[in-house]
Amino acid sequence: MSAADFYTRWAELYDHVSRSIPGIAGLRKRTAEALELELGDTVVEMGCGTGANLAYLRKEVGPEGTVIGVDFSAGVLDRAREHVEREGWENVHLVRGDAIQPPLREADAVVATFVVGMFPDPEAVVESWCEFVGPGGRVALLNAARSRRAYGPLVNLPFRAFVYASTPHKRRFDDPTGVLDERVAAGHGALERRCERTVHDDGALGLVRLTAGRVV
Ligand SMILES: C[S@@+](CC[C@H](N)C(=O)[O-])C[C@H]1O[C@@H](n2cnc3c(N)ncnc32)[C@H](O)[C@@H]1O
Repeated sequence: MSAADFYTRWAELYDHVSRSIPGIAGLRKRTAEALELELGDTVVEMGCGTGANLAYLRKEVGPEGTVIGVDFSAGVLDRAREHVEREGWENVHLVRGDAIQPPLREADAVVATFVVGMFPDPEAVVESWCEFVGPGGRVALLNAARSRRAYGPLVNLPFRAFVYASTPHKRRFDDPTGVLDERVAAGHGALERRCERTVHDDGALGLVRLTAGRVV
């Protein structure tokens, strides 16, 4: 099963989980704020899933701004569309496409939450997003990886089980959590190198990392 089909199959469950994990709403809000958006800006969310970030992004750009969600999975986009229609958000648009080669021309900012760990070469993709927004544009990444805090071993055990259950193509990897750690580090590292005024934060017992900055 492809990753896009995996997310289509689990869209309803994912929609629930992505909004209800304790502390997740605060992390999504902090991520949207870290983009330092201005009213009227255009922000693109890569791999928007069922749309759990859309409300926070829309608040930052205001009704005169634009929010565009991109995802390659039809099922999660259907869910996201239901939320957008229910809320009556006319400035939120959803596009089916590949976040690695987004079918878009320009934007002020890009955000991707819990996505770069799915890319074989996250560094190259984050670089391309920085090129896409250009100098002065903003990029924010929020991702889960193993906790590096003192009590890490305790929380990393259930985290490994969660990663295993939620990884498409898990049989391709001996150690899905190790691969995720490496990809998250590569993506966040690339963003740090390309940006100034970088913001770092973490939450959820050190399991979730936020990096955001302004492209130089
Ligand atoms: C773990 S979910 C995260 C969804 C959402 N960003 C959130 O925070 O809830 C990963 C999402 O990325 C999407 N995705 C992964 N690779 C993609 C790609 N190359 N192009 C577009 N979407 C992609 C999947 O379809 C899925 O919806």
